[in-house]
Amino acid sequence: MLRSHTCGQLRSSDIGQQVTLCGWVDSTRDYGGMIFIDLRDRYGKTQVVVTPDSGDENLEIAKRLRGEDVALFTGTVASRLEGKDNEKLATGGIEVRASRLQLLNRCKTPPFFPNQEEMPGEDLRLRYRYIDLRREQMQRTLVLRSAIIKTMRDYFADNDFIDVETPILGRSTPEGARDYLVPSRVHWGHFFALPQSPQLYKQILMVAGYDRYVQIARCFRDEDLRADRQPEFTQLDMEMSFVDAEDVIGMIDGLMKKLAKELLGLELTLPLPRMTYDQAMERYGSDAPDLRYGMQIVDCSDLARQSEFRVFRGAVDAGGFVRGIKIDKRADEFSRKRIDELTEFVKHDFAAKGLAWFRVEPDGSLWSPISKNVEPAVIEQLKTRFACEPGDLVMLLADNWEVTCKGLNGLRRRLAAELKLFDPKQMHFSWVVEFPMFEHDAEEERWVAMHHPFTAPRPQDLAQLKSDPQACRAQAYDLIVNGYEAGGGTIRIHDSETQQVVFDLLGISPEMAKDRFGFLLDALGYGAPPHGGIALGIDRVVMLFAGLDNIRDCIAFPKTQRAMDLMTEAPGQVETKQLHELHIQVETPPAK
Ligand code: AMO
Ligand code: AMP
Repeated sequence: MLRSHTCGQLRSSDIGQQVTLCGWVDSTRDYGGMIFIDLRDRYGKTQVVVTPDSGDENLEIAKRLRGEDVALFTGTVASRLEGKDNEKLATGGIEVRASRLQLLNRCKTPPFFPNQEEMPGEDLRLRYRYIDLRREQMQRTLVLRSAIIKTMRDYFADNDFIDVETPILGRSTPEGARDYLVPSRVHWGHFFALPQSPQLYKQILMVAGYDRYVQIARCFRDEDLRADRQPEFTQLDMEMSFVDAEDVIGMIDGLMKKLAKELLGLELTLPLPRMTYDQAMERYGSDAPDLRYGMQIVDCSDLARQSEFRVFRGAVDAGGFVRGIKIDKRADEFSRKRIDELTEFVKHDFAAKGLAWFRVEPDGSLWSPISKNVEPAVIEQLKTRFACEPGDLVMLLADNWEVTCKGLNGLRRRLAAELKLFDPKQMHFSWVVEFPMFEHDAEEERWVAMHHPFTAPRPQDLAQLKSDPQACRAQAYDLIVNGYEAGGGTIRIHDSETQQVVFDLLGISPEMAKDRFGFLLDALGYGAPPHGGIALGIDRVVMLFAGLDNIRDCIAFPKTQRAMDLMTEAPGQVETKQLHELHIQVETPPAK
């Protein structure tokens, strides 16, 4: 070992010891003849002092040290000069008086410094990821990620789960995104698909009797990227046999309690709160509601129906809704300009036609640009419906169900952030359950599975699977943390009869089913136990536990929004010879 201690280790109790430290030069300060160096590694920083007593040769080396050089110092641990303690550093009570120093490696002038105050642009950070990863924030996040994964592994091992690896080169899996394909050299014109999740394999493991399976699994989805999505991401994937939804939810409740306790020092009360999908859409307009604050949606379509106001009546007569949210006591913070901006926001981002609003004046009366259009009796009822008090501001959308949901969810999230309605350190865990089995794809005029085609309906909905698919609810559950979907799972169909009905509804013909997942259907015919499971997005869990808002900051080597690795410059072109071997021809790209 080149070093005796790390840069985060020494304390006052070590004073007098001879030590050797290695690390990166974080900063140097030259006080004419006395050089102070902060030496850094992933454990912390230690102040090293080089003085004339260290010898001329050492002093010369020290003078030439620059930020990010790699160096080794041998010396004696001493207390800092009176009043020079640094309480911000764990090693702030001591310094190392160097007797020998060695430059292990010179650093070229880096494109940015890990300790610089201003954060460099993300492209530069990703291009020089090894320097970016030296930043304290990145190191803290990756240490947290490692601790979260360890806690997960321990928890599942303690609960009798076994860890089984499933293939990366396989058949397409039905999670609904585009596949990443890998051409086969051996089989002309045939392709492997990288797994969108281990879904089919874990179900097969249940048929094989493995009962409780867990895996930290890499998943690949070629989809449009957002701050909480990566093309390559990691799931905590699990599956259990002879269980119902309660058992799976209970198992994850226990995991969340342990994670919150061990990593954040938070005491969660179990069971975690739950609401149905229908409740979530009614109250929050989202299937992943942020419950750190209120601002529930209020429906006033019945009142709108009593009004002659064109906007209200038009919406309800067309089968739509008038729904709104109320901001308590902060109407004075909303200028006309701010409301105009919010109006543009709902129009532009959610295709709303406008934003109606009213403010409650100190005397309890309402002020609104639409008060002259809306009858006083209706206004009175709106006031009661929203339980209005002076200083409140109500915003209303008149539109179809989807636009009112999306628009009000968007407004709720934006306003909560702007008005700082929650403490950024606060964490809220909950479940959304009983999702619809199917969504109707209006463009293609067909039903699509809301989760995936192996999801079981609630037993009470089996009978109406064919007659009223829209009304059927699935045994599905999503874990929601601070308004993000942190995980999702379902109980699976384990009998071929129900599976066939679902395939029929989804327009998956027997031939197509046989071709795409024939092996699973076969397996289900050879003694499949009732089973179900869930997958948590580990990158998202880390993001939420670290209080960040971007999963790229929780992954050592992430891809950009355009699905590229800027450091290795992947994806890259390959030799023509390789393409020949794979029997692949690349088309000329269209002219720009
Ligand atoms: P689902 O598709 O809901 O379910 O994925 C489970 C969880 O994985 C995370 N996730 C992602 N994280 C980052 N980038 C992405 N592109 C991405 N896509 C998904 C989310 C999500 O909640 N096989 C089923 C699970 C099951 O039914 O057991 C599945 O994959 O946090
Ligand atoms: P207009 O008569 O179209 O100018 O609309 C009158 C007011 O109602 C304006 O403040 C609009 O922003 C608002 N408004 C128009 N359409 C809607 C709608 N669909 N939902 C809510 N408010 C609307």
